[in-house]
Amino acid sequence: MPDRPNIHIFENAEIVMPDRVQRGWVAVDDGRIIEIGEGAAPERGLDLAGDYLLPGLVELHTDHLESHYAPRPKVRWHPLGAVLAYDAQIASSGITTVFDSLRAGVDVDGGGLGAELLALAEALDDARRHGLFRCEHLTHLRCEVPSPDVVETVENFVSVFPVHLISLMDHTPGQRQFRDLDKYFTYYGGKTGKSDAEIRQAVQRKTNENAALSAMNRPALVKMAAQRGIRLASHDDTTLDEVHQSIHEGVAIAEFPTTIEAARASHKNGITVMMGAPNLIRGGSHSGNVAAEELAREGVLDILSSDYVPASLLMAAFDLPRRAAGITLPDAIATVTRNPARSAGLQDRGEIASGQRADIVRVSVVGGVPVVRQVWLEGRRVA
Ligand SMILES: [Fe+2]
Repeated sequence: MPDRPNIHIFENAEIVMPDRVQRGWVAVDDGRIIEIGEGAAPERGLDLAGDYLLPGLVELHTDHLESHYAPRPKVRWHPLGAVLAYDAQIASSGITTVFDSLRAGVDVDGGGLGAELLALAEALDDARRHGLFRCEHLTHLRCEVPSPDVVETVENFVSVFPVHLISLMDHTPGQRQFRDLDKYFTYYGGKTGKSDAEIRQAVQRKTNENAALSAMNRPALVKMAAQRGIRLASHDDTTLDEVHQSIHEGVAIAEFPTTIEAARASHKNGITVMMGAPNLIRGGSHSGNVAAEELAREGVLDILSSDYVPASLLMAAFDLPRRAAGITLPDAIATVTRNPARSAGLQDRGEIASGQRADIVRVSVVGGVPVVRQVWLEGRRVA
């Protein structure tokens, strides 16, 4: 053990390493993991009493921020207050790196932040500048491709705020997430209270506009991402043609592919496949698309995302080995740590390994449910 005064030791922990689970200790200095050992620690440290010690979770796609800011239709909470409440919930779910998902453009039901996108981005920036955050916050700009204003909105946004991931979405009914129109009527009818006739009219209008707008906007967004070195994700890929388009565009991540064919083709071509943790826990997709569990059994599930429930990320990771034979706990933990980190271009976190950031989560399993007990970001306790 090097003779340095600020070393922290975590001892008596069930350490989830990249390739095995080992009972032992981890030493941290200056925000980094410096040594990992088996058995008794060389000196006294924080006794984790046999709890699991995991790398901090990395979340690429959460729409939870918007629900803190807009908790009811037409109700807006104070942007900074919303951002900090969201941050606390993210940290207490064991997530230490979060890509805040912000929607640019408007989808068919009028969803999206509009000009308020900038108010939220400013609040995130304020919190970052004043050191108020528990987790590290990066930005995932979710672009609704057929929206008339999307290119301009993204151009304005990236000229002011840093963006670390751009996803290309198209929620036009009749394709991708809403290929099954009956499911679409259930989803939007329930969400907006509109009648079937009104929804059918909106479907017709949107379908007509969609092709021309997407054909213009999608290449413009791909080009902008390439020029700025921003990673790309494609959202709800369904057909092989859509996957081939993603490959051609240099997409790194397939968010929520809706069919087994699209997931297989993405994974085979080096596009990492991300699915929702709630989908895994609930046993299927709320839009009636392919189940995450099926992809896990096929060996083509690379990343889990908490989507709309932050605490689902850890629960799903611990559930994965029970649902898919052959997936070990280290493999499962990689879907919420190393795999999302590497796919997003982050090399310095996501593993309990010497030299990695000391982003650490202590987890007890109570009645089969993983419970976050303590969280550290670069060696500093944050939850
Ligand atoms: Fe979607």
